[in-house]
Parts: sequence; structure tokens; C-alpha cells
Amino acid sequence: MSTKPLRKAVLPVAGLGTRVLPATKAIPKEMLPVFDRPAIQYVVDEALAAGIEHIVFVTGRNKAAIEDYFDRAYELEDTLRLKGKTGLVQELEGDLRPAGSMSFVRQQSPLGLGHAVWCARDLIGDEPFAVMLPDMLMMAKPSCLAQMKEAYDKVGGNIIAVEPTDTPEQYGIIDPESRDGRLLRMKGMVEKPKREQAPSNLFISGRYILQPEIFGLLAYQQAGAGGEIQLTDAMARLMRSQSFHALEYDGRTYDCGDKLGYLRATAAFALAHEELGAMAAETLRAALADEK
Ligand code: UTP
Repeated sequence: MSTKPLRKAVLPVAGLGTRVLPATKAIPKEMLPVFDRPAIQYVVDEALAAGIEHIVFVTGRNKAAIEDYFDRAYELEDTLRLKGKTGLVQELEGDLRPAGSMSFVRQQSPLGLGHAVWCARDLIGDEPFAVMLPDMLMMAKPSCLAQMKEAYDKVGGNIIAVEPTDTPEQYGIIDPESRDGRLLRMKGMVEKPKREQAPSNLFISGRYILQPEIFGLLAYQQAGAGGEIQLTDAMARLMRSQSFHALEYDGRTYDCGDKLGYLRATAAFALAHEELGAMAAETLRAALADEK
């Protein structure tokens, strides 16, 4: 099984974000701040921490703010310089990625996650790649993708990150064949099973390392659940010919895709903030006390 090095990641950001409307009417969901940074920044940081060299964003209409966010902001930098705020200018410059290390490709219609990933095929080419769902934020050290990459360097093939859940009926759940520590060999996946029929309690948490053969399958993938072209349907087919592992990574997933999940993630990342965490805790406690 291929263990070509993992260098590229696809971040699909073309979804409509309907569950967090009206916030997402004019702003991409991925640009909503999770405490002090846009959600997308956490995911890019996670990719970089795993040694990813090139990030492909699959964008759609109304997502231009994401492209601008990762570009140089000349006017802002000039204004900050004139005001003597050189520290802030340095911070902005430090966040800039090397020219040519990010690409943007459009998904013209939101036909589903599988279709979004397929839109990146020419930019990925014939090498393994990560898919990172930017509305799933992982709190983990080392980062979730770094843990997956370590496993990938040992076993190759395809690897997805999983985490235990009490509510399998809300997620994609894996069907494991065998287990070796945190690494499970997979024999299948079930989308949103009834609790009593769930083959495990491990849900697919939004990070994947996939082999490029997935593109050939996605090209002919029929629409599945919700009338969308589903990545999981193509993965289930790839599993017939390639090895698939699940890594129960050491950390916690925050699903920011709906309003309460977003609130939970914001609180968690505020509490974990290196400088402001203690004050964030005080602020949250005070807010709760006010409610009583
Ligand atoms: P979600 O279903 O969680 O995101 O897709 P969404 O479609 O934006 O959200 P709702 O359901 O309308 O509230 C998971 C990820 O896949 C991307 C989304 O941007 C999100 O990051 N996606 C989904 C695409 O890029 N294209 C699609 O056609 C569908």
C-alpha cells in the first residue's frame, strides 16, 4: 500500500452554512470567529502543524473573504504602520504563507462534499492528500492531522479520524474489523445508524487521509443521502480495493456547524487560550451567574 508522503490538504468551504443563518448570509461560515480567530485559521494551523505544504480551498459564491484573509492586506498594514503599531504588522506578516502554497478552486454548485473534494483533483494529482472539514475543530496535541500522519507513515493507505460519541444517530459511524491500540482496521461505515444498530460508537470526525484513486470513484459517484454526492459513499467503494484504517485520535472534536456547537467551540477555545484563558473562564462564570 502506498506511503507516498502526505504534502497536500483539501479544505472544502463551498457549503451554504444554512444551519447558522443569518450569520452566514454575507459572511462565510469558516470566517466566523471562534474566540479570537476565524474558524478556518485553526484548521490551517492544524494542517501546517502536520507538515502540509500546499492547501487547496474548494470555495463557492460569497467566499471571497477567505481568499482575502490569506492574502496581504496592504492598506491595513500601511495604516497600522502610520499609527506605530508595528507589532501588529509583524503578526500579520508572520501569518502569511509562502507565495504559491495555497490554491483556490470553485465548486460552482454545492452538490455535496464528495463533489467538492472531486473539484480539487487536478490540483492534487497522483498523490495522497488530507481532507479537513473546517467546521469541525479539533483540540489536540499533537494536532489531529499530525497524529493521523504518524499513523499513515506506518500503515499507509487511507486513514480517517474517529472519536467516541453517545449519539451515533447523528453521525457517520465506522464498522471496525480489528483494533491495535488507537488504530482500527475498518470494514465499513454507516451513515446515521439507529443507536441499537450502530456497529460501534466511533464517529467520523472530519479529518481524512485519502489515496488519489478516490477521484476516479467520485467522478461517477451518484447522489446519495440528502440528494448530495457523498464522500462516504465513494470511500465505501474504495474500501473494497484499498486498506482503510480509523484512528481514535487523542483529543476532542468540536462541531461548529450549528449554533450551539459553535457556542460550545467558542467557549472551549476561549478557555484553552494561552494568554486569555483564565480571564475567559471568569467572564463565562460571571455571565452564567448573571443568568441565575
Ligand atoms: P456541511 O453540510 O457541514 O456544511 O458540510 P454546509 O453545507 O455549509 O452546512 P449546512 O448544512 O448548510 O448548515 C461539511 C463541509 O463540506 C463543505 C462545507 O463547506 C463544509 O465545510 N461542503 C459541503 C462543500 O464544500 N460543498 C458542498 O457541496 C457541501
